[in-house]
Amino acid sequence: MQDELTAVLERLELDRDGSTQRLFEFLRIPSVSADPAHTGEVARAARWVCDELRQVGLNAVVKPTAGHPMVVATHEGPPGYDGPRILYYGHYDVQPADPVALWKSGPFDPVLVDGPRGKRIVARGAADDKGQVMSFIEAFRGWIKSHGTLPCAVTVLLEGEEESGSENLEPFLKSHTAELAADLCVVSDTGMWDMQTPAITTRLRGLVYVEITIHGPDKDLHSGLYGGAVANPINVLASILASLHDGTRRVTLPGFYDDVEEVSPSVLAQWKALGFDDAEFLAGAGMADDFGEIGRSNMERTWSRPTCDVNGIYGGYMGKGAKTVIASHATAKVSFRLVAAQDPRKVIHSIETFVRERLPEGCRADFTEFGANPAFHVSEKSLYLGAAERALARVYGKPAVLIGSGGSIPAVGAISRILGAPSILMGFGLEDDCVHSPNEKFELGCFEGAKRSHAALLFEVGQMRR
Ligand code: BES
Ligand code: MN
Ligand code: MN
Repeated sequence: MQDELTAVLERLELDRDGSTQRLFEFLRIPSVSADPAHTGEVARAARWVCDELRQVGLNAVVKPTAGHPMVVATHEGPPGYDGPRILYYGHYDVQPADPVALWKSGPFDPVLVDGPRGKRIVARGAADDKGQVMSFIEAFRGWIKSHGTLPCAVTVLLEGEEESGSENLEPFLKSHTAELAADLCVVSDTGMWDMQTPAITTRLRGLVYVEITIHGPDKDLHSGLYGGAVANPINVLASILASLHDGTRRVTLPGFYDDVEEVSPSVLAQWKALGFDDAEFLAGAGMADDFGEIGRSNMERTWSRPTCDVNGIYGGYMGKGAKTVIASHATAKVSFRLVAAQDPRKVIHSIETFVRERLPEGCRADFTEFGANPAFHVSEKSLYLGAAERALARVYGKPAVLIGSGGSIPAVGAISRILGAPSILMGFGLEDDCVHSPNEKFELGCFEGAKRSHAALLFEVGQMRR
């Protein structure tokens, strides 16, 4: 039986260069979902990956939504198969390449360059998430080329709006529940522990994102003639934002910590045993010192504590030199990462109330919401977690570690709520991949390991019965 998998792994090895070339083609399509100027390219990426899935031997279609399209593909497994079905989720859209000037090569001109861990692929989307999506597509190709079939039934769902809020995902899941039904969902959009140590992510933080605009005077004013006598929306906004944290760097929204759970001592002990390297973590940010909630480690702060960050702030005169002006309005983009049972609706309500209660006479605020998703936890007892652990141990020769992540993938929670499928987050990125930053990269070694791991997971699931 195991020979079946060996044959697939050998074929993947033979097709190494071919698979890199195919990933390069995918990376050349600038599918930036956030930018309306790229809508045509996003659609082209959907068609490209759909064609690729068809060539591999799946039944694949591009399905329109109110926003960017979904790609859905299926394979029924071997004749007469009635074991578990995997739903693979991934995203074919990417973050904007800005600031483009900081890239050493074109963000959409993928290159293979030497690094300390061997060759790496540099391009926007290399690790997040096109390289990881291609790793399971290549695993499918390896299986079908070797044996004429996949060893289990598979459905693929690729989204084109993950990087801009997954707005149309929930309605799509709700209107396609039967078509997308599966026993487990596999997502490859997270990281490994290090290049030799595979990881399964068992918790993701949730995300609430709001834009807050404070309006004051009906036009920009001379700051000498009016300064000190009327409310300055930028001053007001800055003071409200500053009061969102207290002296211990905790978030001050009333009730914010009510639904936050402490990590159990056993999980905390397990995390400690991983030997998280604070210096290396900080070096990845170009920092020597940390700054966060007092009394918590950086691992806890990012994996199991909620946060509030201002992501952007603007208003008034932003040109060169000085202009003496009181702006009529000011805006901030504010995000909250959520953990455990924190309710995103409650947080939205709470930030709106917090701002309104602090507005001086004559000012008003408006709010635009860009997503509200709860945190996600994988049950460590899930049957399929065992299958992923066996697959990773087979490929890496050592057990996978169970980790948390500070990032968010809105789809994972939605898939569990709407389709009821438990998710396995089996990712192959590294902390220094520069996802969302200039010079994003994916180690070739991570790509190879990812393809092999998916091939092995398909094998493991094919051996299971429902
Ligand atoms: N793949 C990332 C999330 C991620 C990265 C999880 C690394 C774990 C390790 C995903 O594409 C992402 O960037 N998510 C966004 C949220 C989205 C609503 C824009 C995030 O976390 O900011
Ligand atoms: Mn991603
Ligand atoms: Mn991302």
